[in-house]
Amino acid sequence: MAFDRVFLDELSARNDIVEVVSQYVPLKKSGANYFGLCPFHNEKSASFSVSPDKQIFHCFGCGAGGGVITFVMKAEGLEFPDAVRFLAARAGMQVPEQGEADRQAARRRDRLYALCRDAGRFYYDTLWKPENRAAQEYFLRRGLHRRTMNRFGLGYAPDSFHALLDAMTGKGYMREELLDAGLVSRSEKGHIYDRFRGRVMFPIIDVRGNVIAFGGRVLDDSKPKYLNSPETPIFHKSRNLFAMNLAKTTKNGYFILAEGYMDVIALHQAGFDSAVASLGTSLTEEQARMIARHTDRIVISYDADGAGQAAAQRAIDILKKCDLQVKVLKIPGAKDPDEFIKERGADAFRSLIERSEDHNAYRIEQIAAKYDLEDDEARVLFLRDAARMLAGIESSIEREVYAGRAAKMAGVTAEAMNVEVRRELGVRRKRQKAAERREIRSPVGLAQPKDRTLAYTDMKSAKAEENVLRLLFSDQKLIAGIEQMLPPAWFSAPVLRKIYERVLALDREGQIVDVLSFEGWLEPNEMSLLSGILEQGLPPGEHRQELAEYINMIRMQRIRDGTLMKAGEDPLLTFGRIKKQNAGGQTI
Ligand code: CTP
Ligand code: MN
Repeated sequence: MAFDRVFLDELSARNDIVEVVSQYVPLKKSGANYFGLCPFHNEKSASFSVSPDKQIFHCFGCGAGGGVITFVMKAEGLEFPDAVRFLAARAGMQVPEQGEADRQAARRRDRLYALCRDAGRFYYDTLWKPENRAAQEYFLRRGLHRRTMNRFGLGYAPDSFHALLDAMTGKGYMREELLDAGLVSRSEKGHIYDRFRGRVMFPIIDVRGNVIAFGGRVLDDSKPKYLNSPETPIFHKSRNLFAMNLAKTTKNGYFILAEGYMDVIALHQAGFDSAVASLGTSLTEEQARMIARHTDRIVISYDADGAGQAAAQRAIDILKKCDLQVKVLKIPGAKDPDEFIKERGADAFRSLIERSEDHNAYRIEQIAAKYDLEDDEARVLFLRDAARMLAGIESSIEREVYAGRAAKMAGVTAEAMNVEVRRELGVRRKRQKAAERREIRSPVGLAQPKDRTLAYTDMKSAKAEENVLRLLFSDQKLIAGIEQMLPPAWFSAPVLRKIYERVLALDREGQIVDVLSFEGWLEPNEMSLLSGILEQGLPPGEHRQELAEYINMIRMQRIRDGTLMKAGEDPLLTFGRIKKQNAGGQTI
């Protein structure tokens, strides 16, 4: 799957994007770019642009974009390797044997799998040492049986800066491999030290049963509560679900989606062996697709708090896209499934599942909870609010059913409700049209990503992050040393962080940073986002200074939202702590 970069360079040189695209769409030159009607959505005015300088295409209407390989993938409906073969054939090139480079990469990954498995074993063994009674008792106090702990391979990372490092190098693993696997970190001075210290450990295992990453929890209430492995060559958070390796063989007709490690473990222990968790981030489409491969019914069982309920609303949309039947469970009188089961037992949870509601009913109830339905005025407001939600239901039959339900709740006739819904549908259509027009008119606008699953939560930060990427792509010299000034963890937008991390990795490996090195690596929607970012002009001003300003902006946002001053997240603070530990006799 991985093609040699030299080959890809030649492939892209011999397949000029303007020429390739012209075979599908007539293009007209205007300024530095070419424009035409987008082949990927219906439009009457040309909002599809191709940049010969950057060798990218981008549609301001539908947001699609990428390099020449992405274009062929979309236009011909091919997977990455086949799009590469298609272009090779077009240019009369031989596709190199998928030989040595692939085998080498596979060997490196196998080493990382073995390393993570050995690390998991090390944490497991450490947990059961007599001196770590506190960690054992932590799990027992939380109600886990020894059998459950073994089933999940739970462990303990000793409170040492080099215990794992010593154990793994003793087994013949290289320090670089430990770094690649995210098991150790490198301090500013270049010292390498264990990432997980004094934490109980939850191995993250992929569908095929490989240990690929870890989550570690403190035993008390210090912060951060959980620390997770970073993205690595074998661990992509957005493509894995905790406990999927166990849940995939369930006989249950439905899956349960929870938020946390402990929720899933408690659920399995109580007999719900189809529970998985999305590892503390909001659910991604890839995760939803994984679930849809194994079941067609899912019950969302997130935390009872506001954050959990908001996350549930987002998860509903993503799961619906995969044609899953979605229900939402409410947990009365407890914070999360783990606590509920501990207090009330498995049978009580089973009856919650049985009573869990279809997602539409759940949403209507969430809305109703905001209003006092005894009050006439509030009832009118409720109807409007509910109508807005109902107008979003695609199937007209479902819409009708739930409109009837909402009407009953408010004590009005179904016809009155339907009038509201129809009005909302009209408003929606108009708004959609207006948005389409607006976006075509102001292509550069500081907009949210077209794909809502990539939505930015912190616009100000995200725009600075975009500008950082734009600068790094335009001038690779700027990348050297940037990681110290701008750690990936400061990025607010996961997709931008993912791109940034690859930029750093490519540069570290002496590779070229350009769109080509992201083709086939980013998901199509992510590629579209990147092309949109690169399509825009560079910020004016001297590059280094611009960069410093954007970094500062991001830093300020992290201080503002409180991420930054938490221990362990500011490299300067981490560094200070390590130095102190050193003075105390600890070596790293
Ligand atoms: N999480 C994380 N990093 C944090 C906090 C949370 O990665 N600093 C993830 C973990 O996967 C965690 C999940 O988000 O399991 C849910 O977080 P939360 O509800 O705060 O924790 P609980 O699962 O309830 O943890 P516990 O019961 O151990 O306190
Ligand atoms: Mn909990």
